[in-house]
Amino acid sequence: MTENRNVKIKVEKLSLIFGKNKESALNLLNQGCSKAEILEKTKCTVGVDRASFEIYEGEVFVIMGLSGSGKSTLLRCINRLHKPTCGHIYINNEDITTKTNKELLEIRRTEMSMVFQNFGLLPHRTIWENAAFGLEIKNEKTGVRHEKAIEALHTVGLDGYENQYPKSLSGGMQQRVGLARAIANNPEVLLMDEAFSALDPLIKSDMQDELLDIQNKLHKTIVFITHDLDEAIKLGDRIAIMKDGVIEQLGTAEEIITSPASEYVQAFVEKVDRKTIITAGTLMFQKPVTLLIEKDGPEGALRKMKTESLEVLPVVDKNKKFVGFVWMNDVIHAAKQKHLDLVSVVKTDVPSIHKNYTVEEMLPLISEVRTPLAVVDETNGRLLGVVTQPSLIIESTRFDNEDEISELKEQAKEYFKWKK
Ligand SMILES: Nc1ncnc2c1ncn2[C@@H]1O[C@H](COP(=O)(O)OP(=O)(O)O)[C@@H](O)[C@H]1O
Ligand SMILES: [Mg+2]
Repeated sequence: MTENRNVKIKVEKLSLIFGKNKESALNLLNQGCSKAEILEKTKCTVGVDRASFEIYEGEVFVIMGLSGSGKSTLLRCINRLHKPTCGHIYINNEDITTKTNKELLEIRRTEMSMVFQNFGLLPHRTIWENAAFGLEIKNEKTGVRHEKAIEALHTVGLDGYENQYPKSLSGGMQQRVGLARAIANNPEVLLMDEAFSALDPLIKSDMQDELLDIQNKLHKTIVFITHDLDEAIKLGDRIAIMKDGVIEQLGTAEEIITSPASEYVQAFVEKVDRKTIITAGTLMFQKPVTLLIEKDGPEGALRKMKTESLEVLPVVDKNKKFVGFVWMNDVIHAAKQKHLDLVSVVKTDVPSIHKNYTVEEMLPLISEVRTPLAVVDETNGRLLGVVTQPSLIIESTRFDNEDEISELKEQAKEYFKWKK
């Protein structure tokens, strides 16, 4: 999903130290001292510790971590409210760490908008005036301001509230105004620091849906901070997990959940409902042994099954398109009957799925039969891999001990012996 995408923001070996003794703190950091040790020795706090990553144009990039892990500090380096102690930040390939204050002001005005947790609305101004606030700073004319604010309010679903005041709006609606103010500016980048954290769960969920809707229309680059993993998973195209100023892991939700990089990340993702996240693309055994409908007969099929110790094989045609599965029993029968091809024994009435199917979506498809699921390319129907039943059981059941999982993993292989 992220291949060949333009890099919008690039952060390179960025560190930020709070305190007077920055040099010694940096030295200790490079020697591998912990945040706690550095605090003790130098009285400096490590805000961000040598962070390097890229944010692609048009993606929702989530920074997640517990309170104090450095999320806000990192964000404030990106909009240069903080000057990094060392390292670089590039926006559109331009190094912003070397810019003058005046240039920075201009970048902040045109390039990015911020949405805050506490909404940051001005109580004595109407909703439309609040939404137009960023434009006012840009010295836009009143007519233009009004027009753009009304449009932004429409985008966030606040038609009709233009002339009311913030105090008459609920928390969720106030944050919609915050969002409208950010997008009225038409920035390339939206920075959102715990923007939904203060909202009640239901309202929060609504706002997340709203943000995803808006993103589908506007395709901004969004940097979204949260301490809530569910929110990170719902919103993030990719998630960076921070601890003590360090980015512990960066990847898609699925990547992080299937291979957590540390015990810390593991502890975070343990409670996640894997069924809704893990997809066929991750679970499937790639490049399975196949039979060719135009070429392989029952005798040949039997030979392949024996050498591979597989009792069921997928069948493709000469264009690699998935045709169906054949079972050993049927092949033996066909061979006895001296049938010459597989057409009479291939079961074509089987479900096939795409790579993005989740475990939850796959489960009902395998409950009836023990046939694996064929994963096919959406565009040309080619067979990409197969997902077996034990693999799905591993992902959909909560196991208390590792032994049970290893046993099932063995079964997953033994049953059909699909090679990865
Ligand atoms: N202005 C500041 N002066 C000194 N220390 C700070 C300042 N701002 C943040 N910190 C410290 O930097 C670390 C990261 O804080 P912050 O970025 O606010 O974390 P988060 O947003 O993840 O909760 C914390 O240890 C915090 O105490
Ligand atoms: Mg914060």
